[in-house]
Amino acid sequence: MSDLKRGLSEAVAAAFAAAGLPAELGRVTPSDRPDLADFQCNGALAAAKSARRDPREIAAGVTAALAGDPRLAMVEIAGLGFINIRVSDTALSERAREIAADPRLGASFVEGPRRILVDYGGPNVAKPMHVGHLRSSIIGEAVKRIYRFRGDVVVGDAHFGDWGYQMGLLIGAVMDEDPFVRALMDRLNARTTPVTPDEEKQAFAALDDRISLADLDRLYPQAAARGKEDAEYRDRARKLTAELQNKTVGYHLLWRHFSRVTRVALERDFHALGIDFDLWKGESDVDELIAPMVAELEAKGLLEDDQGARIVRVAKPGETKKKKLPDGSVVVVPSPDPLLVVSSEGSAMYGTTDLATVLDRKRSFDPSHVLYVVDQRQADHFEIVFRAAYLAGYAREGSLEHIGFGTMNGTDGKPFKTREGGVLKLNDLIEMTRTKARERLREADLGAELDPDSFEDTAHKVAVAALKFADLQNFRGTSYVFDLDRFSSFEGKTGPYLLYQAVRVKSLLRRAAEEKIAAGPITVTQPAERDLVLLMDAFDQALVDAYDKKAPNFIAEHAFKLAQAFSKFYAACPILPAQAEVRASRLSLAQTTLRQLEQALDLLGIAAPERM
Ligand code: ARG
Repeated sequence: MSDLKRGLSEAVAAAFAAAGLPAELGRVTPSDRPDLADFQCNGALAAAKSARRDPREIAAGVTAALAGDPRLAMVEIAGLGFINIRVSDTALSERAREIAADPRLGASFVEGPRRILVDYGGPNVAKPMHVGHLRSSIIGEAVKRIYRFRGDVVVGDAHFGDWGYQMGLLIGAVMDEDPFVRALMDRLNARTTPVTPDEEKQAFAALDDRISLADLDRLYPQAAARGKEDAEYRDRARKLTAELQNKTVGYHLLWRHFSRVTRVALERDFHALGIDFDLWKGESDVDELIAPMVAELEAKGLLEDDQGARIVRVAKPGETKKKKLPDGSVVVVPSPDPLLVVSSEGSAMYGTTDLATVLDRKRSFDPSHVLYVVDQRQADHFEIVFRAAYLAGYAREGSLEHIGFGTMNGTDGKPFKTREGGVLKLNDLIEMTRTKARERLREADLGAELDPDSFEDTAHKVAVAALKFADLQNFRGTSYVFDLDRFSSFEGKTGPYLLYQAVRVKSLLRRAAEEKIAAGPITVTQPAERDLVLLMDAFDQALVDAYDKKAPNFIAEHAFKLAQAFSKFYAACPILPAQAEVRASRLSLAQTTLRQLEQALDLLGIAAPERM
């Protein structure tokens, strides 16, 4: 099955070919002037240029060849030689029936499905999530769903940040604060025999009582700040990190406790937002791969010594940048920077675990592509890791791609912070948005007759839609301002508006069911019906664009336009009061619109409530 644009393109291409012109010029696109036409073809202008002929004359030849095509209600030459096309009601009706009968609502599959790994979310142990993680989670989840819907085999991985310097900082901070933990560490670290499962259980139980996620949330920022100022403190944290990575018994046990409490809370928050990872792997999971990887990089001659650290140079000859030294002088250095594989303390770094993860994924899943949905500010990091991976032969050149995005800003134009200036906790954000959603519902006099549980469910869905749609309606590269008042409004280009339209259709369909009115074959006659079908027909193109550009905003835009078109249709074309056949057709249109709208929303990770 193909959309109208593709079907028409074939016909127009054939007309070009018949006139001895290049067939690819017969490409048809939706009209820039919907008041004049449904579709247009600009090929005659290009053809005229190369053939040195009059474009209107070429267009006339093409339109003549198209005359008699039953799908077309009108073919016209406009302006300098544009071909304007209006589709017949019959063709539109047929296409509408096709979409209605299609479980995929007119969406095509990708040719030659691939194996895709989406690396997104990227939360860290104990470090509160910031807006970058929120955007990564929202965009990554949508990209994952879009790719999967197109037919690829897709796996989403959270890539939990659990093996870096912040772990050493936390281990130090917890020991400083709690003498019991310090004593436990001393005792365990001094062991010469392995810890028994029973002892381990006891230790975890004691830690559960003493160190909660709230403690980690409180301690980490303090420790991080001190690490920035106090070189000795920083060095100790680095040593502790190296000792953890060497599996020092006590630290390793303490670290497992940190990671467990963080993960439980994070999974709960992600789940509330409709973000579910297929894999919850962490940086630490590739630990075993690091030593052999370093040996292999060494053997391949890729490792170099750099003041006690081990690096891989990734810049090609001639690739340089200017760098300012602390004394103010400027030097020219290779660019990108080298990949730091082993620090001078002997630790694995952020890039080390990323490189080993490329290898791990190749072995476990063998993806044809890996998409890293991470803040644009990490672009350099990924450039370096990808180059190193290609050099080492761990991935096919071009198969690793950084899907960057801009920031969500506060009204000050800087990355969003809480009123107190801290990082925003996901849980707090959800709570804040839910409160707002309840307010909005009451204000709009919605959900008044729902029981308390259903009202909560609706408020939650409105909140999630508000947050996600506000993010996904922008091209991911664009930064935007967090404005909860605007995001949560039931009017304008918002998630709640879309849910409201979906719920309206649902209640219409419920009423029809109550009155035992059945849907029937679609017959399109009215302008508002035509517009609605033309939009439904455009779903596949929106999906293809979103897929190719890794940009869910194309789906968001489609969903919004579809909801608008439905709203106009609903106002212009009475449904239940209409004569039986018309009523059945319009009911079918409404039903199909709802299905496509919910499908589009689902691709964005948004669910509509039954009532509001
Ligand atoms: N944990 C990282 C951070 O908070 C993000 C991880 C992104 N993914 C990756 N493979 N590096 O910045």
